[in-house]
Amino acid sequence: MSNQLIYQGKAKDIYSTEDENVIKSVYKDQATMLNGARKETIEGKGVLNNQISSLIFEKLNAAGVATHFIEQISETEQLNKKVDIIPLEVVLRNVTAGSFSKRFGVEEGRVFETPIVEFYYKNDDLDDPFINDEHVKFLEIANDEEIAYLKEETRRINELLKDWFAKIGLKLIDFKLEFGFDKDGKIILADEFSPDNCRLWDADGNHMDKDVFRRDLGSLTDVYQVVLEKLKALD
Ligand code: TMP
Repeated sequence: MSNQLIYQGKAKDIYSTEDENVIKSVYKDQATMLNGARKETIEGKGVLNNQISSLIFEKLNAAGVATHFIEQISETEQLNKKVDIIPLEVVLRNVTAGSFSKRFGVEEGRVFETPIVEFYYKNDDLDDPFINDEHVKFLEIANDEEIAYLKEETRRINELLKDWFAKIGLKLIDFKLEFGFDKDGKIILADEFSPDNCRLWDADGNHMDKDVFRRDLGSLTDVYQVVLEKLKALD
């Protein structure tokens, strides 16, 4: 059956379509933090993130990255290839910030000579804990080859994104990706890429991302709108 709600996420809902290999993602106006402990409706966020993520995934597809993105079909909706999500949040850090700074007592803003890749286990009941390669293998989430691919692909995507954001005057500090297995068993990039799951600092060090919500720094949608307009101006 098509148009059945298959999954209700914090920022998106997922529906079935007439094609069993295609799903519809509907971006919502909800912002959460601390694994949903703080939750707010922010009008216009869904439209902005759908546009931003669609634009970035189109560029990633064009650059030869295998992704789930098919097309944007409305202000809040896009079609994606159906995948079995790998339950890992793959975080890449170019610059110290957020939980890294907190965990290790390092000030924000120090550039890593080589970007750092981290895994978190996607499990709400466990609060998405930090997890290492050995844990990933023990839990049979991914094998050595798959772990290596996830890291390499994330670093490759970082190089593309860092370059695009630099061209519009934004520094890509860190971000989170999710991957999944497509119908042929191939690992492809899934989920979204928006200021909800990355950190972007402008030349003056202003936060142009969800830290505006996390740290109560002003209007989230005003900032996301600026990011969208800048991205649209990118060739
Ligand atoms: P962190 O510093 O809180 O670990 O976050 C690193 C990056 O990953 C940051 O850009 C936000 C993103 N992220 C998510 O998108 N979802 C999450 O659940 C977490 C923990 C981080």
